[in-house]
Amino acid sequence: MSDAGNGHKLWGGRFAGGPAPELEAVNRSITVDIRLWPHDVRLSQAWARGLVTAGVYDRAECDAVVAGLERVAARLGAGEQPIAADEDIHTMIDRLLHLEAGTPAGRLHTGRSRNDQVATATRLWTLAAIDRIDGLVRRLQETMLAQAEALQDAVMPAYTHLQRAQPVSAAHWMLSHGWPLVRDRARLADARRRVAVLPLGSGAIAGSAFPIPREQLAADLGFLAISPNSIDAVGDRDFVAEVLFVLTTLGMHLSRLAEDLILYGSSEFGFVRFGDAFSTGSSMMPQKRNPDALELARGAGARVLGDLVALLATIKGLPSGYNKDLQEDKRTLFDAVDGLELLLPAVAGSVATLTFQRERMAAACSSAMMATDLADYLVRKRVTFRESHGAVGRLVREAEEAGVEMTALPFSSFAAAHPAFEEDVLEELQATTSLRHRDIAGGTGPVAVAAQIEAMRTAIASPSGG
Ligand code: ARG
Repeated sequence: MSDAGNGHKLWGGRFAGGPAPELEAVNRSITVDIRLWPHDVRLSQAWARGLVTAGVYDRAECDAVVAGLERVAARLGAGEQPIAADEDIHTMIDRLLHLEAGTPAGRLHTGRSRNDQVATATRLWTLAAIDRIDGLVRRLQETMLAQAEALQDAVMPAYTHLQRAQPVSAAHWMLSHGWPLVRDRARLADARRRVAVLPLGSGAIAGSAFPIPREQLAADLGFLAISPNSIDAVGDRDFVAEVLFVLTTLGMHLSRLAEDLILYGSSEFGFVRFGDAFSTGSSMMPQKRNPDALELARGAGARVLGDLVALLATIKGLPSGYNKDLQEDKRTLFDAVDGLELLLPAVAGSVATLTFQRERMAAACSSAMMATDLADYLVRKRVTFRESHGAVGRLVREAEEAGVEMTALPFSSFAAAHPAFEEDVLEELQATTSLRHRDIAGGTGPVAVAAQIEAMRTAIASPSGG
């Protein structure tokens, strides 16, 4: 088969005629998989070295192919475009290698199939993507940590059912969005170990018929283990599904952070002001300051979830071994990774440039939010929680009916609600008092939050993010 023009195919000898243009169009994946090229080149170089051990190449042939692949990489790096007949990146690299290295190139595919090749290249790409995403999540965590450190003495309402519940340190709220990212990074690190399993040497499905040293290939390419079953190895895309799940969860966390910030940035809350560099205006309403990056983060969570669902649905009904449906794996994986690589820096920038309106946050801590503290006050005076809950409930209703804060009620109201109330009860209606009572580990008390900040710093610095 000639290498010039459209003639270079990795298959076709058994057919009398060429494929229909409609088949070629639907089969062609190079627009998606061209970005696998650095990994495909690397694994091909490792394969060439393995072919020496297997007795297929002599040293000189192997050197010629490895150097030829280096020149292919240079061409691809310089933007070499595929020709119409390049079905996928593996075909394109093989064609270019024939141009660069001549005859020895024709032996490179010995004992190898695109089935184990694409699984290997996709795993290598995924390993690199995991490391990039991990770095971006870490940068976002560092931004959150810096904000949390500055917010330790700011109080704000914490919400349940989106109703004001209890006062918390604003640092505690900020860190509540940092811990999910610690878990995401731990999940990413855990998934990484399962991605780093080498399929190469599995051939099309039954294993290579040439004694390629697979352990050496694995070490050469940075894999931690070799796949134990060739049928499983070529049809397994669990690693893509697993990474997509981790990314979906990460996307969901970014979405929830974004939702909090979008709410808190509204005039109704007024807790935060979005930085100029991360706000957009309206073409009609001059006063608008819109948090587009955060809204896109919320929206993108749905897209990554779609990628995960699409992949799981693709895999679910497949018979064992490689099936062409699996070509779709890269579309979902690349889409999710691309999306998060765009979003994570935008979310980090949005968080870094927030201004917190401390007075608004403190003013939102209305005295009714200290109702639990009042009940706890009575409990400390040996009243049962059930009885104190009822007494405080009556006070809350009295303030509500009078349309005043509980702090504005006369002491006689407290005394009437329960005889155990003493004059010092007003102190319990301060948000800062409420916080001070909560220095339990994991709570919002100032000492606990300071410890939490240190724990977060340690977690961020740990290589597995947790
Ligand atoms: N482009 C294919 C993919 O991405 C490569 C593997 C093709 N293998 C095959 N037997 N047709 O999955």
